[in-house]
Amino acid sequence: MSLSSSSAQRIARLADDYPAWWVDLLGEHNHVGGVEATRWLLERARLAPGRRMLDAGAFVGAAARTAATATGCSAVALDLNAGFLEAGRELPGGRQSAWIAGANHRLPFRDGSFDSVWCLDSTLVPRELSRVAGRDATLCLCCEAPADSRGGLEAFIDEWLELGWRLAGHRPQTLEALQAWRSAEADLVARRPYFEPRYGRRGYLAQLDHLAGLVRAYERGGAGHGLFVFERL
Ligand SMILES: C[S@@+](CC[C@H](N)C(=O)[O-])C[C@H]1O[C@@H](n2cnc3c(N)ncnc32)[C@H](O)[C@@H]1O
Repeated sequence: MSLSSSSAQRIARLADDYPAWWVDLLGEHNHVGGVEATRWLLERARLAPGRRMLDAGAFVGAAARTAATATGCSAVALDLNAGFLEAGRELPGGRQSAWIAGANHRLPFRDGSFDSVWCLDSTLVPRELSRVAGRDATLCLCCEAPADSRGGLEAFIDEWLELGWRLAGHRPQTLEALQAWRSAEADLVARRPYFEPRYGRRGYLAQLDHLAGLVRAYERGGAGHGLFVFERL
């Protein structure tokens, strides 16, 4: 979904209201891989009119809005931050989705409420995400996952297996993540005169330290990133 100029302005205003490097870096589809990653997951999520989708840790609900618009499903966007949800409701497709403030650790839904549960670069709470997923649901993730060749990825997938999920699709995104964090680091350095007043000097330096740490972790293979689609066993 491409953003109209008024939507782009709303996102820019949001970035001003909530100083956080990831808003500047990743934009509306606030996860590694952006809208293209959202579409890859959507093609595999088995959503259709009458099916229910949860976007857990939704930010402005770009995935929820895209899913509702593209498939006619009923989407719910949930986030800790009510301000993000208010902004999302005003963006294209926002009126077609439901908006709920809450925490991924304790989702305010009954067991089995959703046909597709999404968690894209937000706090992963496997048991809770699994609890609210129905019997033939899909689970769509964009997240950190081991990328080494020492069995870490298999262990990650096995943890989901224990919760009743089998892997149906996987796309590694480690390189994309590394490039995203590297370019964010370069951007923070190059745009220092703009970012420093926004974040404050300490906040600014903390953002840089955090990004430098991420880059190192990805470079030495200590962290990887990927898209995952799971189906019920
Ligand atoms: C990097 S953004 C990803 C946003 C969104 N999933 C996307 O892909 O566009 C992380 C989001 O997760 C939310 N978040 C972090 N921890 C959360 C939690 N425990 N429960 C609900 N939301 C959470 C943050 O408020 C933020 O909006």
